[in-house]
Amino acid sequence: MKQFISVNDVPDINALVKKALAYKANPFVDKTLGAGKRIGLLFLNPSLRTRLSTQIAASNLGMEAIVFNVDKEGWALEFEEGAIMSGNTVEHIKDAAPILGNYFDVLAIRTFPSLKNKEDDYSEMFVNQFIKYAGVPVVSLESATLHPLQSLTDIITIQESAKLKSQGSKLKIVLSWAPHIKPLPQCVANSFAQWVNAWGEADFVITHPEDYELDEQFTKGATIIKNQDEALKDADYVYVKNWSTYTDYGKIYENDPEWMLTNEKLALTNSAKVMHCLPVRRNVELSDEILDGPNSIITQEAGNRVWAAQAVLATLLTSLKGGTK
Ligand code: CP
Repeated sequence: MKQFISVNDVPDINALVKKALAYKANPFVDKTLGAGKRIGLLFLNPSLRTRLSTQIAASNLGMEAIVFNVDKEGWALEFEEGAIMSGNTVEHIKDAAPILGNYFDVLAIRTFPSLKNKEDDYSEMFVNQFIKYAGVPVVSLESATLHPLQSLTDIITIQESAKLKSQGSKLKIVLSWAPHIKPLPQCVANSFAQWVNAWGEADFVITHPEDYELDEQFTKGATIIKNQDEALKDADYVYVKNWSTYTDYGKIYENDPEWMLTNEKLALTNSAKVMHCLPVRRNVELSDEILDGPNSIITQEAGNRVWAAQAVLATLLTSLKGGTK
């Protein structure tokens, strides 16, 4: 593995999950793998889990992690090729990225979409410009369209908590849209869909109101059911997430509170485990009764962010050392 931007960088999802669970069982087994190596964690947006779990993961591998809040502490970066920089941007990524590649062995970057220009966001210009100019492996800490460390974590959490199914029957996983007061990116939903489809070991249903279709490049393979109650029937896992509209980009059309998951809706499922990437708006996206109830595995899920990051960093470090993984 030379970079970690999407599921397409992962040759074997189950092998990576197995590695993450081995680190969960024995966090310090590779405590010298990252000795003498340094990772730069570049944040253009806020974070709690991604920032801390990736630092802990690096530390468990003996790797130095330096956090740089680019949005608050750095020069305003320009990403457009050929830009005439007479506006607010101060430093071009062409100049900054090679220097960062000189300082660090691995670069990890978080950027959010603008939600204003779909073509720009879906071209993943920020991450791609870093990859082009940094000259070192790049890890996405969430990009304009995807959140692969979150999705790897989600597959890990599903695998470790999976109920035994009778032979021949698959787990049923439902991605359910939830209300929110602000237009949010599609990243987590896109990425979850991309990973569950690539994993291929579940019956996968996506439910959302009219006009909240996601980009088909990520959802292809899933069954789309717009009636939430119907979609939830017999689910083993319900992944709750808000996203703004994709087609008429970045809007909130519908904020029906009826889409919030409650115990009454959960009763339609196969006593489903409930997941969410966090942060969550209580009693808007998810009810207290679900978040504080026995079916929520959300804290376990957030805890697993460490092991997902550790498995990814260890794999990149092994590649840097000339290994084959
Ligand atoms: N789930 C997630 O990425 O959380 P943070 O935004 O806090 O990093």
